[in-house]
Amino acid sequence: MRKKVTIVGSGNVGATAAHWIASKELADVVLIDIIEGVPQGKGLDLLEAMPIEKCDSYIVGTQSYADTADSDIVVITAGIPRKPGMSRDDLLNTNANIMKAVVGEVVKYSPNCILIVVSNPLDAMAQAAFKLSGFPRHRVIGMAGVLDSARFRTFIAQELKVSVENVTAFVLGGHGDTMVPLPRYSTVAGIPITELMDQTTLDRLVQRTRDGGAEIVKYLKTGSAYYAPSAAATEMVEAILKDKHKILPCAAYLDGEYGIKGLFVGVPVKLGAKGIEQIIEIKLTAEEKSALDKSAESVKELVGVIGF
Ligand code: LAC
Repeated sequence: MRKKVTIVGSGNVGATAAHWIASKELADVVLIDIIEGVPQGKGLDLLEAMPIEKCDSYIVGTQSYADTADSDIVVITAGIPRKPGMSRDDLLNTNANIMKAVVGEVVKYSPNCILIVVSNPLDAMAQAAFKLSGFPRHRVIGMAGVLDSARFRTFIAQELKVSVENVTAFVLGGHGDTMVPLPRYSTVAGIPITELMDQTTLDRLVQRTRDGGAEIVKYLKTGSAYYAPSAAATEMVEAILKDKHKILPCAAYLDGEYGIKGLFVGVPVKLGAKGIEQIIEIKLTAEEKSALDKSAESVKELVGVIGF
């Protein structure tokens, strides 16, 4: 039997995630939204592309959570996106309320699923979903580090004129202005980028990574990025469905790791069939640790506002 992935929210991120997942034939996809017709229309349109893509994924759009029953993974993208001038944190209360409406329904029909949270502000929404679901922490994961690292990798590859395939990068911390790109752990064909570019160039790429989401919002004006965010969620879905034991930066509920307790923060985790199989603790310099702590503080503040 094929695996089943539900995507909550049929906006740009949700629909594009459905596109990536179906075209990689990873699973059947249920696209659910409160907006009538949109998930059905996008779902049917995507289904009709499958003969051309030579894929047998089945895609269906719905308003009814009964159709999501027994999903292996549920990706939550529901929520309002940013407009120019807004920070991810400005979305806090609206999206927390959406999370309250969604998570109970998801859990009722798919009590054994793995939740991947994509809605912003990411770390706070992951925390809300974790608390609302009652799931163990290995089954609630936030998508952000894969996206932020992909942006960093793109900029590094452009700067050094090398294949993106040669570039690995880590971005830890919350998915916000305080995120922590780690140049020391970012490499080109195994060579640390700190040996390949000067500090000024590095600082510029790190800042562009931090501003990566806002850079897209500025262009789009009516919404935020969706190709890279949905591709990032899809990489996590693939790692889980194929039990790849893949190490990716994701938002995870920390219980003392990195000296942080009771909070979702972006860290390297190993993803496989069970969800988070391991939280990987890498050695940080005092400066990196203090940047991570600062980032965790800002997540804590948001979580406090919504009471999770
Ligand atoms: C971004 C938004 C989606 O980083 O958080 O583009």
